[in-house]
Amino acid sequence: MIFPSREDFFYGLPGTGGGPGQAEAKGEENMTETLAALKGRSLLEPMDFSKEETEALFCLADRIIENPGAFGDACRGRLLATLFYEPSTRTRFSFEAAMLRLGGQFIGFSEPGSSSVSKGESIADTIRTVACYADIAVMRHPKEGAPRVAAFSADIPVINAGDGGHQHPTQTLTDLLTIRRELGRTEDFTIGLCGDLKFGRTVHSLVKALARYRGVRFVLISPEELRVPDYVRQEVLEKGKLSYRETESLQEALPELDILYMTRVQRERFFNEEDYIRLKDRYILNGAKMKLAGKNAMVLHPLPRVNEISPEVDRDPRALYFKQAKYGMYVRMALLTALKGVEAGRL
Ligand code: NCD
Repeated sequence: MIFPSREDFFYGLPGTGGGPGQAEAKGEENMTETLAALKGRSLLEPMDFSKEETEALFCLADRIIENPGAFGDACRGRLLATLFYEPSTRTRFSFEAAMLRLGGQFIGFSEPGSSSVSKGESIADTIRTVACYADIAVMRHPKEGAPRVAAFSADIPVINAGDGGHQHPTQTLTDLLTIRRELGRTEDFTIGLCGDLKFGRTVHSLVKALARYRGVRFVLISPEELRVPDYVRQEVLEKGKLSYRETESLQEALPELDILYMTRVQRERFFNEEDYIRLKDRYILNGAKMKLAGKNAMVLHPLPRVNEISPEVDRDPRALYFKQAKYGMYVRMALLTALKGVEAGRL
């Protein structure tokens, strides 16, 4: 299938003038056909959706951003369950806000101690029960693979909202949508990933996803102890013959980056507090360091930040992390709409 251009998708939308011509109508049909194939699917890691499916989701997110009111009933009557066994602000709130803005509702817990999990219930039993009440579940869990176990046990779609130090596919959708909209492309750029590349699940998912785009160069900036895990280096970077290098110096890398993706040192995944304390302030992006960055560079961060970006950087127009958090809600609106089911040829 030849994938239609972004312009095709936008033709005929409010404010773009006129109705779709033949080619545009075809593009529209292709997009909705691709989206229709996402109905009822689970999202456990970024590669679960093809590049074309991911692109179609972004086109839907673009539409929602342009005209959110038009999607106010897209999930009317649908119930989302948010099962958060680990703390969260952005991911949980953005999913819940997304469902509410689409006309649906949500149930869930943000603190497993308040559910039967505290009585020793298994993930399989919890999800089977939740599936009796809700149409779709979002799960964050400290154990790697837990959302996969849930997806096996449930007959509703399960979305992985972060499993231990493993993957975080909807943060990756957020990151890619931000890059696509703010840089204007998802290929041919240099991205520096800085901080805790060992335990940072957003990094693992983002590297995996970006491996599918042409001309992406990776600069991996971390202390020796927090380098990317071997499975990412060997199975993604080496196997995919991607262009990458590793360095300990943020200053040295900054001038060559189109995107700097900062991350927090993941305290909760450390075996001992001393190591955390020794490494936590290794990288602090401040105004002086920003002078080394290109004038069109952009700074992203999945958030929450601790000390790694000093608040003075927030005023720099290149600091896009709060905008990124907002894109997170829109891309989750697109995801929930697609998983509910988009009729081929109609949106
Ligand atoms: C990230 C996570 O949970 O992995 N947060 C998020 O979802 N935006 C990053 C982090 O906690 O450091």
